[in-house]
Amino acid sequence: MEIEIVKSDKQKSLKLSIVKQKDGERDVVFLPESRKLTLRLDEDSEDGYRLAGGKAMKILEKEDFETVYIKNSDNLAYILEGILLGSYRFTKYKSKQKEFPVKRIFVEDGEGVDEVVRKTQIIASATNYVKNIVNSMPNEMTPFAVAEIGKKLAEANNLEIDILTGNRLVEENMNALLAVARASSNSPAVVKIAHRPKNAKHKILLIGKGLTYDSGGLSLKPADSMYTMKSDKSGASAVLGILKAISELNINVEVVGFLGLTENMIGGNAYKPDDILVARNGVTIEVKNTDAEGRLVLADVLSYAQDNEKDFDYIVDLATLTGAAIVAVGEFTTLVMGHDKKLKKQMLKAGERSGELMATLPFNRYLEELIESKIADIANAGATRYGGSLTAGLFLNRFIKEENKDKWLHLDIAGPAYVEKDWGYNQYGASGAGVRVLVDFIQNLDNKEKGE
Ligand code: BES
Ligand code: ZN
Ligand code: ZN
Repeated sequence: MEIEIVKSDKQKSLKLSIVKQKDGERDVVFLPESRKLTLRLDEDSEDGYRLAGGKAMKILEKEDFETVYIKNSDNLAYILEGILLGSYRFTKYKSKQKEFPVKRIFVEDGEGVDEVVRKTQIIASATNYVKNIVNSMPNEMTPFAVAEIGKKLAEANNLEIDILTGNRLVEENMNALLAVARASSNSPAVVKIAHRPKNAKHKILLIGKGLTYDSGGLSLKPADSMYTMKSDKSGASAVLGILKAISELNINVEVVGFLGLTENMIGGNAYKPDDILVARNGVTIEVKNTDAEGRLVLADVLSYAQDNEKDFDYIVDLATLTGAAIVAVGEFTTLVMGHDKKLKKQMLKAGERSGELMATLPFNRYLEELIESKIADIANAGATRYGGSLTAGLFLNRFIKEENKDKWLHLDIAGPAYVEKDWGYNQYGASGAGVRVLVDFIQNLDNKEKGE
């Protein structure tokens, strides 16, 4: 259960204060008898307040205060976000359910408080919703199960939905996706889900990698790397979360999501290294490694999205695409790639505002040579491991139409989507990476000319 936020003056509750750091003072002053918890900021920034909100929840998890009171301030939104994200616990598979002690946050009334509370709740709930999907086990969260979640979301939030399965995928020539899916006993699906406000000024397409399990296929992953691969559906799950938030916030931007949902398994009919696949757009792909499956799925879904939707301004894919992204920038940071410098900057700014860490690396012509194939148009794995995230990005680039090159960004979320330890206000497991940054990016599309 998510913590409830209520506007009220309940001074009897534990009072939480977050104040600026002064030299020589203790970080945390907790006086349970007088019901006071004071935290000092590690960092005087927006994320500093989120981190403090999250830290407060870690402290209070071990106590038994049911209600917490916070005063209104300019930083209320960040503190509440830290509280709502920081109090998430994934307990679905525990036979004994332990409830989080804090049930309600009372917030002092003031100008704009309703709006702050409403917006923050929507964004945090959408992020936690994605964590639930990603954390769920692969045996339960099959491609069809994720599609079903999309359907439920569409019904609840009045979104347009189309679920492509079986013959429709064949008719659409999604041969690369179908090759990845072939050895699995859980069938694949492509979900299209759209928020279409009237008279929207901008239109964005979001494409998510949804490998509900990535065993590596015949190029099988070693046991230690296979563990956590339920998280390979994080991109697709984030797309659902973004649509949830955008529709609840009533944002006047047309957002169309496409989820490529499949497993990557082994079997007598599995696709093989040495196979040549003809992707939806006719490009022939030499399979060098069946574990580089995400780019195959995305190739077809990117192609489908660009033909299926007209007159869009942006096309952004989110994918746990490469282990190399984690080697390059560590576990906590999303790698942003694309051709348009301004657009990349816009995404990095959204990262700074939303509290998601982002970095960008540049493509170059020499890396492009690494994915050349002797016998097909392109190979699905680079000739060397160097620059592995960029060669994966350049592979996707082959499936972006010429007229869309400057509208495209690729977000490799392999690191932050799933981390096997607590970090900041995030817990062990899924973090909902991509949700907060994209909601911010979409909300601020009008500000881009101002260079904000
Ligand atoms: N899903 C993985 C990438 C990944 C690795 C995500 C670790 C999260 C954590 C992807 O499908 C993959 O296996 N990529 C290969 C590509 C290689 C074979 C060219 C990789 O990164 O090793
Ligand atoms: Zn893989
Ligand atoms: Zn994968």
